[in-house]
Amino acid sequence: MQTGWLGRQRGVVLSTFRKLRLQHRAVPTSTTIPVTVVSSRSIVTPALHLKKETGPCLPLRQRSTLSYLDHQSTTVRTTTLLFTPNTVKQQHSVGQFHTHSCQRRGDFIGHQQVNVARTMATVAAPSHVDLVLNVDNINPNVKAMEYAVRGPLVIRAGEIEKELAMGVKKPFTEVIKANIGDAQAMGQKPITFIRQVISLVAYPDLLSSKEFPEDVKSRARAILESSRGSAGCYSDSAGLELVRNHVAKYIERRDGFPADPSNIILCAGASEGIRSTLKMLSTISGPRTGIMIPIPQYPLYSASIVEYNMEQAGYYLDEDNDWGLDVAELERAVKEARKRCNVRGIVVINPGNPTGQVLTRDNIVEVIKFAHREKLFIFADEVYQDNVYADNREFHSFKKVTKELGDPYDKLELASFLSCSKGYMGECGLRGGYAEIVNMDPEVKALYLKSISAKLCPTVLGQAVMDCVVNPPQPGEPSYELFSKEKAAVLKSLSERASMIAKAFNSIPGIKCNTVQGAMYAFPEVKIPEKAVAKAKSLGQAPDVFFAFQLLEQTGMCCVPGSGFGQRPGTYHFRTTILPQPEKLQIMLDKFRSFQESFLKEYQ
Ligand SMILES: Cc1ncc(COP(=O)(O)O)c(C=O)c1O
Repeated sequence: MQTGWLGRQRGVVLSTFRKLRLQHRAVPTSTTIPVTVVSSRSIVTPALHLKKETGPCLPLRQRSTLSYLDHQSTTVRTTTLLFTPNTVKQQHSVGQFHTHSCQRRGDFIGHQQVNVARTMATVAAPSHVDLVLNVDNINPNVKAMEYAVRGPLVIRAGEIEKELAMGVKKPFTEVIKANIGDAQAMGQKPITFIRQVISLVAYPDLLSSKEFPEDVKSRARAILESSRGSAGCYSDSAGLELVRNHVAKYIERRDGFPADPSNIILCAGASEGIRSTLKMLSTISGPRTGIMIPIPQYPLYSASIVEYNMEQAGYYLDEDNDWGLDVAELERAVKEARKRCNVRGIVVINPGNPTGQVLTRDNIVEVIKFAHREKLFIFADEVYQDNVYADNREFHSFKKVTKELGDPYDKLELASFLSCSKGYMGECGLRGGYAEIVNMDPEVKALYLKSISAKLCPTVLGQAVMDCVVNPPQPGEPSYELFSKEKAAVLKSLSERASMIAKAFNSIPGIKCNTVQGAMYAFPEVKIPEKAVAKAKSLGQAPDVFFAFQLLEQTGMCCVPGSGFGQRPGTYHFRTTILPQPEKLQIMLDKFRSFQESFLKEYQ
């Protein structure tokens, strides 16, 4: 297999690698060096910094193991590098090398043609026999789980940003990260009241400052009292009693039915609450637990289901019916899934991510009756409950509808989630959220609480944010006016952006977009021409992945391919947030339009 050219390169590589090891005592002989490719031009390891110039390939040594993310399946694969067709030249200081990366699409590494543009790579040193963990023996569920929202496309977007910063010329000057529902990262301003309260909770000396309104001070004092005087103290695992009481009152006001504070569990973002609850349904013997999730879905669910060794039982949302939920489809999905697993739960995301649908009350009633017939635990993911834009839609909580339906539906086991990351707050990084767990057997609830106690508690600052969300300023309080103004402005702007985006996409050839009724996303369908499908296949990419990469490389617009959320076979989509600020959103949509026109010209 070894060619003359490759043979010549071997000596260079081996001697370089020896030098590297000699100079880098931190990298023992038998270790695995984690290498993260941060751009198509550079690879960074904790110990080594390898930079790509031009030309062929990099690898560190004659025989290495490289793990890479395959863009088609977005799974981690490994390959053995037998040859290293590269030139490595030491430069600057220890650990700084100019080299030639094998990370370009189509570059030859070892036995494989790797059709990945960027990778997460692991280069194994001569032997890893001493290591307890290697990619072949770690928890396989961790290896198998995938989370598209931060997948290879986003890694590439990060690389492009670095390339732009280094002065690399591109057809655009900035990357627009429309891949993740992170409002403040896209320029949304924090709500003053929330930031004032957490400032005082974090730094109580400011309580004497005249800068802060009295209602802010009283909220902060109450939170501090409940948390033993400092945000630095652990709280109960389920959260501060004060905040849980306020959450219960908020739910009562929202639904018109009582809520029990002992059913409220505060968590570090809704993600943590969802995962803790989901974990309760996993079994270790007998058939695996199946969880029904919408397709398309938010990939926290598919990832966690895999991680907890459960089975995904997907039900398709009805794209032709504004992404509504069809009970006949639920029946089909449960019947089909019961052949392979024990279906015990159903997830409903309302308002929907990635689809932006808001379910009608009738639709919710149908789902509740279905869950009752099939004996399912309901996961009501209601994190976007404040984000409803369509005039003909309003938010109905699953809990409220079960209560309105009465016996036997009000006995259903259900968990509902809210988060401070969404709504008008956009406080993603502060990690606040709650789960309301309804009708859980008391003994099971005690075990649930035990399970979360091992995590100690969510951050007290995150809990303080949740307190502001569920106990906002009231008419007559000093902060009321500004709070209401800021909240209304954010929601109004989101609503305008929701209609702007759907309207614009629907005017672009080959794109079809449902009304964005709520949440923070559009999930348009894109007709990918046969020629482009063939091209994608030739590169080993799924057609929607190919489309999204082309879009990113040509416009700097970072969206997530539909396959990361699930879609009906033969259809292609992408998800974009509606979060770029209006001017930037307009730029993004204009760029998208001209991209799509030239894409169609090239491939139709
Ligand atoms: C539907 C849905 N549920 C849950 C979450 C988790 O959000 P967080 O953990 O930030 O509260 C998200 C985040 O985007 C989401 O879209």
